[in-house]
Amino acid sequence: MNILVTGGAGFIGSHTVVELLNSGHSVVVVDNLCNSSREALRRVEEIASTEVPFYEVDIRDREGLERVFALCSFDCVIHFAGLKAVGESVSKPWEYYDNNVGGTLVLLDVMRKHGCKNIIFSSSATVYGDPAVIPITEDCPKGKCTNPYGQTKSMLEEILTDLHTADKKNGADAPWNVVLLRYFNPIGAHKSGLIGENPNGIPNNLMPYITQVAVGKLDHLTVFGNDYDTPDGTGVRDYIHVVDLARGHVKALQAIARNCGVEVYNLGTGRGYSVLDLVHAFEEANGVKVPYVIGERRAGDIASCYSDPGTAWKELGWKAEYDVVDMCRDSWNWQKQNPNGFEPGQTK
Ligand code: NAD
Ligand code: WQD
Repeated sequence: MNILVTGGAGFIGSHTVVELLNSGHSVVVVDNLCNSSREALRRVEEIASTEVPFYEVDIRDREGLERVFALCSFDCVIHFAGLKAVGESVSKPWEYYDNNVGGTLVLLDVMRKHGCKNIIFSSSATVYGDPAVIPITEDCPKGKCTNPYGQTKSMLEEILTDLHTADKKNGADAPWNVVLLRYFNPIGAHKSGLIGENPNGIPNNLMPYITQVAVGKLDHLTVFGNDYDTPDGTGVRDYIHVVDLARGHVKALQAIARNCGVEVYNLGTGRGYSVLDLVHAFEEANGVKVPYVIGERRAGDIASCYSDPGTAWKELGWKAEYDVVDMCRDSWNWQKQNPNGFEPGQTK
């Protein structure tokens, strides 16, 4: 298929571009590089031994997007472009609604004008809020999102679903096909160590924090609370290797190809690891120490969150292949080889 990948220079997007190319798809990338680097795509080209057409365009820029759609015809858009820092979204809600919701509305309008009504969307386990039952299945009711970032994901799921529903009701010849992928906690990196997660400033997420402590950029990890109702008192999450996650997108194209309407899939491993489990797994896998202290709970955190990924297995034949040792090894390999990551907007 001919695929437009928005946000393709970012962490998950860059790994997905590699897997799409490995599977024989044609890919065009659009990214405004606000949280990524041209260098990431150069390295994708090195891994895949092929050129990747790239347009430095903001998805809110209608004319810019129109130019890309006028040049190429797409079968599907895989839509990663967006801002993702939960804490920042609380202090800059307008920027998050403008970028994530406003940007997606422009993208959807340009897509329909050009006759492309197939989209795979990066949603998040955050839409479940604090789930009543775990492991979480896709029919678990959506919960209250405690931050604007989560709200944008939840709203966009509704918007995309409404587009399909309206088309069906109106008897449209080619209704929207929408695949909502709810990611759990992506970590790891491509095994080459050429691409990986590249947070700006001090990381918010656990694994990049661990790797930056291990490489000596940060002094120690603060574990956010050890009094949760979990086996060791620290928060439990479903960490998934980013390459497995990327392959989930390739598999999701099958749903698009069979005119699926709206489908929702959890992309996780189905296994929960606590903060201390991950720290110890990292230390053992890599033979490095990660000093930590126990701190206060972080506002908005929940005790446990892990998926039931069975629907993706049944309907797409997708399941995660990599385990926590692979994730820890590959995250460290990336960090060691790139102690300073890429600079945002770096062009060389
Ligand atoms: P990322 O920040 O590495 O990648 C996002 C990319 O989108 C970046 O390259 C950025 O420059 C680009 N971008 C942002 N706004 C844009 C705009 N207006 N126009 C064009 N490009 C724009 O993040 P990621 O971890 O790769 O996440 C990708 C998607 O997956 C995001 O939508 C994110 O919300 C979602 N997601 C991520 C996680 C996670 O833990 N990483 C979990 C669930 C969902
Ligand atoms: C994991 C665990 C923390 C940092 C977030 C978003 C979610 C999704 C993925 C995009 C928790 C603990 C963390 C630290 C710690 N993103 N922790 N010390 O919170 O599960 O999910 O990223 O959609 O929307 O909310 O991930 O990596 O921040 O935290 O103890 O310095 O690690 O309390 O238990 P989270 P995380």
